[in-house]
Amino acid sequence: MSATTTVPCPPAPGRVPVLGHVPALLRRPLSFFESIRTQDPLVRVGFGPIGLYLANDPALVHRIQVDADTFERGRFFEVMAGHFGNPPIASDGATHRHQRRTLQPGFSRTSVRDHTRAVVDEAEQRFAAWRPGVPVQADEEMADFVATVVLRSLFGAELPPAVVRDIRRTVALITGKLFAGTVFPEVLTSLPTPANRRFEAAMGRFHAVIDGLVQDRRANPGSVPDVLDILLKATRPDTGRPLTDHEIRGEFLILVFAALDTTSTTLTWAVFETAIRPEVQQRLYEEAVLVLDGQPLTYDRVRELSYTRKVVDETLRLHASMLATRRTRHDVVLAGTLVPAGSEVGYSPRAMHRDPGTYADPHRFDPERAESGPGHALPPGASFPWGIGPHRCIGEHLAATTMTIALATLAARWRLRIRPGARIRVATSSLPRPDSLPLLVTPRG
Ligand code: HEM
Repeated sequence: MSATTTVPCPPAPGRVPVLGHVPALLRRPLSFFESIRTQDPLVRVGFGPIGLYLANDPALVHRIQVDADTFERGRFFEVMAGHFGNPPIASDGATHRHQRRTLQPGFSRTSVRDHTRAVVDEAEQRFAAWRPGVPVQADEEMADFVATVVLRSLFGAELPPAVVRDIRRTVALITGKLFAGTVFPEVLTSLPTPANRRFEAAMGRFHAVIDGLVQDRRANPGSVPDVLDILLKATRPDTGRPLTDHEIRGEFLILVFAALDTTSTTLTWAVFETAIRPEVQQRLYEEAVLVLDGQPLTYDRVRELSYTRKVVDETLRLHASMLATRRTRHDVVLAGTLVPAGSEVGYSPRAMHRDPGTYADPHRFDPERAESGPGHALPPGASFPWGIGPHRCIGEHLAATTMTIALATLAARWRLRIRPGARIRVATSSLPRPDSLPLLVTPRG
């Protein structure tokens, strides 16, 4: 199509002069991307000087994720990779492909299978320590649980609980900063404010922990084929030389960042959705009793927990991230609009997963929803909890297995309800989460 036949991109509703969509975003941060959904497949969104083409159409959202010749990582990844020293997994093209292949064995089914016992033990011990009538801060518990098992899987080592907690709080700070860094000019997020200083200090502690683990392993190379071992043996595709400690640290930072907040927030939402639905809890319980049969869970049995897995999948649908972005490598015509090279192009997983054009009653939590069931193939680009294409989540299997084990272990042991009188607000971030989830638990059986 030639430039003369292209059409201008319509602005998303709610734009004001100079500030663009900033007031609308601040007014309704959670529903902003849903509120600007229009019939147009592509709209223009502006946050002050930052402009973005936002895709609303599944086919377009699919293309943006799979067509790596046209779309490279965008602003979101650049802000993050910059914080982490631009490690190879955060790159594009051949370097990225090489690094993915290198890391893949650390996330394979075999690797997750080997790790299952540790996840089951941690879930059983942690949830067995809860007491009837004593309020449980479930958001904190889920975050500690996920951080303990994921860090153990990545580093092959058990870290002291205080270190685990410090790391996961730092990751939460990074997530908040990243969302701000995507939609607000950098100058606002790099001022020497107390929050930014706290962030820098926490990052310093996080670096020190990783550097310590790397040095320990260099001094005592074990035979554990974990991610740390893989990275110590890895070479760069461009130079053929081993990764430096700095690069290894960067890879870990990205992995830890990508893993912790996503998994613990999704698990916290799953617990929330379960706690307010006795009928879902009952089905989880019945399945857990049947599959566990009084024995500790094994990897093979996790795969029999089909209803539990549907609860995880429905949680991933309903509680997806706000925004993902890419950048065009060259001029491209999208939905009839000529989008110049170097433009930021994005889509909102949250808005796409709540699209009434795809899902009947999209805000309803329904693990058995027809659209996700057999015979209801969704159009490509309508549902993508783990992403699609070359950047699809490398930790999908680890995360899904961890969340399924946690839910089944909980359901087998406890009946959950939200502590009466608790007010649960949703904290806005790139991945919105309950700001607090206090529960009361009653033993089953
Ligand atoms: C519920 C938990 C998780 C969710 C919802 C999730 C979601 C996603 C999504 C949507 C992407 C694609 C991003 C894009 O296309 O721009 C992604 C990429 C990624 N995820 Fe996950 N993730 C989760 C857990 C994990 C875990 C546990 C790990 C590692 C231990 C991990 C590591 C990664 C990495 C490294 C990438 C980038 C892959 C690449 O660019 O090649 N994630 N994740």
